[in-house]
Amino acid sequence: MTLPRIALAAVAAIAIPLAAMAADADRSAILKRYADLARAADSGFAGFSAARGETLYRTTWAGSDARTPSCMSCHTSDPKQPGRNAKTGRPIDPAAVSVNPQRYTDLTEVEKHFARDCKSVLGRDCTPQERGDYLTFMIGQ
Ligand code: HEC
Repeated sequence: MTLPRIALAAVAAIAIPLAAMAADADRSAILKRYADLARAADSGFAGFSAARGETLYRTTWAGSDARTPSCMSCHTSDPKQPGRNAKTGRPIDPAAVSVNPQRYTDLTEVEKHFARDCKSVLGRDCTPQERGDYLTFMIGQ
């Protein structure tokens, strides 16, 4: 039996917002994890800041891999645009959540890339505070 078109439309109308809500919940859980870690490191932790996240994103860091002085080297100056890996030349999907709603929903993926990308850009890992600031910036983009 085939479902009437109207029923399919109804399923899509429910399924799409549900997927978006699930992605939001996954991002919130990751943010909460970083907030807990930031608070453990500094009892004065007062929340994340999109402005600080943007500064982290746009800063030209010293002590990094010469090909990647900033997050923009691969993710571009406009995170809504597709990027390009400055090391391999491979395309990268946009980093901004508004155009790429599945971003920052898988903790393993997020952790792996913070560790690797912060190392090539900053020459060190990003702190939980920096990670949360960066995610807060991208969630607003
Ligand atoms: C050498 C190129 C490169 C640079 C520089 C770079 N990234 Fe990335 N980043 C990637 C690639 C490649 C991926 C994985 C592919 C993808 O997610 O589309 C990625 C993914 C990520 C992810 C995971 C995305 C997700 O959806 O889970 C985070 C978080 C991230 N980058 C943060 C940063 C931060 C913070 C900086 C700057 C400190 C940075 N990146 C700089 C190449 C780069």
